[in-house]
Amino acid sequence: MVSRSRMRTYVKTIRTRPFKDQRPGTSGLRKKVRVFRQPNYLENYIQSIFDVITHLRGGVLVFGGDGRYYNDTAIQIILKMAAANGVSRAIVGHRGMLSTPAASCIIRKHMAAGGIILSASHNPGGPDGDFGIKYNGANGGPVVESVTDAIFANTKSIRTYSIVDAPDIDLSKIGVSRISGMDVEVINSVSDYADLLESLFDFEAIKAMFTGGFSMCFDAMHAVTGPYATEVFIKRIGVDPSQIANATPLPDFGGGIPDPNPTCNRTLFKTMFGDGAPDFGAASDGDGDRNIILGRGVYVSPSDSLAAITANAHLAPGYRDGPCGVARSMATSRAIDRVADKLGVPCFETPTGWKFFGNLLDNGRVTFCGEESAGTGSNHVREKDGLWAILMWLNILAASGKTVRTIMDQLWRSHGRNYYSRHDYEGVETDRAESVMANLKAKLADLPGQTFVNETVSRADSFTYRDPVDGCVSENQGVRVECESGSRFIVRLSGTSTEGATLRLYVERYEGPGGNLNMDPQVALTDIVNIADRIAGIKVTLGRGTPAIIS
Ligand code: G1P
Ligand code: ZN
Repeated sequence: MVSRSRMRTYVKTIRTRPFKDQRPGTSGLRKKVRVFRQPNYLENYIQSIFDVITHLRGGVLVFGGDGRYYNDTAIQIILKMAAANGVSRAIVGHRGMLSTPAASCIIRKHMAAGGIILSASHNPGGPDGDFGIKYNGANGGPVVESVTDAIFANTKSIRTYSIVDAPDIDLSKIGVSRISGMDVEVINSVSDYADLLESLFDFEAIKAMFTGGFSMCFDAMHAVTGPYATEVFIKRIGVDPSQIANATPLPDFGGGIPDPNPTCNRTLFKTMFGDGAPDFGAASDGDGDRNIILGRGVYVSPSDSLAAITANAHLAPGYRDGPCGVARSMATSRAIDRVADKLGVPCFETPTGWKFFGNLLDNGRVTFCGEESAGTGSNHVREKDGLWAILMWLNILAASGKTVRTIMDQLWRSHGRNYYSRHDYEGVETDRAESVMANLKAKLADLPGQTFVNETVSRADSFTYRDPVDGCVSENQGVRVECESGSRFIVRLSGTSTEGATLRLYVERYEGPGGNLNMDPQVALTDIVNIADRIAGIKVTLGRGTPAIIS
């Protein structure tokens, strides 16, 4: 007879068949929940991680997710597979939850071999919503493309996976238990991360600002940031709880889409542009790595926020010396380039996706990086970090005594303004989206020198990135068309959508310090939007009159 303890640690080898569609996108493998629920789908992908990253055997791994629907089921399966694949210690967030930046912080602090993060970020949740898995390495950041390519290759030939036959672990209790030979340590999800933030920013100055009557509206969007915001803002800074909205995480985010932008966050925008608006408004996304910033009657575009942070970060204790360098994704506006130029530090241009910042951060080449998609961060972790950006802004406001609007006016008056917007065509037919890209690429060679309305094209290409640290080359990272005036547009297909395709059009126009700095961005960008559509034929080819989201 097999003893009970033997039974509880029995490793099963399960036969499986490959799925063809497990290619990771911009940020890990992201699919509909119903796709992940197919028998063996989750297991195949997880086993492929263990097959490829062989040093996880005997190592320490961090586990946690954004708490969306299926998080609790998936994490139990993954823990049992980790035990079967020889992981020696699992560090798991309380109730299986960790924000993405907190996971990055914990991997680094505990010197883990890596971490498995369960998140579909800003995508909708619930049984009909999305789910995702991302593997981060020992630096705390998403692994580079060569590793995700190897995981994908493994998913195409996988034949078996291993899992321990054991009862579920109780993740509601902080403490250590065991599955097979693997220790499972359930930790407080917020304290390490909150300590790190407290070491970077002047919490006393921020507290004094609130005591002096400063008001804020932070929207946690019923996503993972709620408990982190409660710890940092309410417990450590003393903000009144009424200033934090939707702080309880829900598996379906209360039916909303946890993507902080003007369309998905109408209430916050209404509050900030209404009578009696607070001094400061902010929100983060499903897994806590994104942020948006608003002041009374003003929305700071993420690209401008990155530039403003770079220009003012010396006001925060953790960044007294200013940045050593900065990086932005190619599609992000070039506002930060002008600030970096004035500071005399390099500005790197990378493809879309945080994984491309990892080498630059690890190599000490940059302090700040960001993306137009509401992602901002620094070398404190290897993920973008929503609360970090919000605290950075609060610290800047507290130390300078200025309003959000004044900070922006000063930025534009000294550097000029990069009017910028992104237009998303969501859920379009993949064939049509691909033909927009193909038609545009076919035109690129002939575009330079051509004039459209008042703009003459100076350069048109498909962006190829050569990583300055490891020399790796990533091709086809978006088509960009630049004009002599400094205006430009970019077209690329999203790597995070789960239904059909999403085509993104990014438009930018520069207005010098003496120019008109207070236009409505959509008005300022009308010409370049029309030129982009004329060249790329987006509306006609997609059969869509207007984008689903304008941010
Ligand atoms: C989107 C954003 C990108 C971000 C990613 C993960 O990817 O555009 O900047 O890194 O989500 O949060 P996309 O759907 O454009 O491939
Ligand atoms: Zn996110």
